[in-house]
Amino acid sequence: MAASSLVSAITRWLEGKVALITGGATGIGECTAKLFSRHGDKVVIADIQDEVGHSLINKTLGSSNGTYIHCDVTNENHVKSAVDKTVEAFGKLDIMFNNAGIAGESTARIIDYKKSDFERVLGINVTGVFLGTKHAASVMILARSGSIISMVSIASGIGGSAAHAYTTSKHAVVGLTRNLAVELGQYGIRVNCLSPFAGTTFTTDEFVKAALYLASDDAQFVSGHKLFVDGGLTICNSAFNLFDNPES
Ligand SMILES: NC(=O)c1ccc[n+]([C@@H]2O[C@H](COP(=O)([O-])OP(=O)(O)OC[C@H]3O[C@@H](n4cnc5c(N)ncnc54)[C@H](O)[C@@H]3O)[C@@H](O)[C@H]2O)c1
Repeated sequence: MAASSLVSAITRWLEGKVALITGGATGIGECTAKLFSRHGDKVVIADIQDEVGHSLINKTLGSSNGTYIHCDVTNENHVKSAVDKTVEAFGKLDIMFNNAGIAGESTARIIDYKKSDFERVLGINVTGVFLGTKHAASVMILARSGSIISMVSIASGIGGSAAHAYTTSKHAVVGLTRNLAVELGQYGIRVNCLSPFAGTTFTTDEFVKAALYLASDDAQFVSGHKLFVDGGLTICNSAFNLFDNPES
């Protein structure tokens, strides 16, 4: 292998792969789309913000490297069609990134919480992940390979960090991830989730590098895992003050 191809093979972790990213028009999804594309991946953005999504493809990624599909993740026909169109456009689906999610009401106490607000968050954050995984799996099972990644949050493991619906939804996705890893592992499909926290020193870039790892073949034995990208926040109980730095 020539030196330049060797460097390319090392630095482009997703060469020849195809990813579908829900909620890929903005935020973490957009950053992931850009990083995956730099690593040789064809990227399909599925979102409800059509203008922004089309612009990301046309102005940044390039139409030969990806495409945009209107897709509300709560609508099963949309999700099935997004998967079908991905395969039509690029011949396969290697990576499903269930990233679309909303925070919902931030302050409502349980006695004030509206059922409709609760169900709206669960519809996008949980049913959306279920549908994305269901239709991606139908293609990946035939291919006997694939990587499915879902976005959770520190609210997937601790209480009191987010509103009730959001916390419920992210806990649910961890359970779904574990069950799916067991079911789909027999077909060579890996199922993981990513648990980020945006603090003063952690940026979106850190989250998406973790998504890149889970998507890549370097993570080929990693499944059923919740990968924390939070600088250790969730494994620390600061009430103990055991290792306080005397100089700070
Ligand atoms: N930003 C953070 O600090 C953070 C921390 C932990 C977890 N997360 C999770 O990461 C994911 C992305 O968060 P973000 O901060 O980039 O959010 P964001 O609001 O910037 O982007 C979310 C994207 O999802 C899309 N979307 C919303 N509803 C949709 C639907 N019904 N169908 C399809 N697309 C839809 C939006 O149009 C948007 O492009 C979410 O699941 C969120 O819970 C984010």
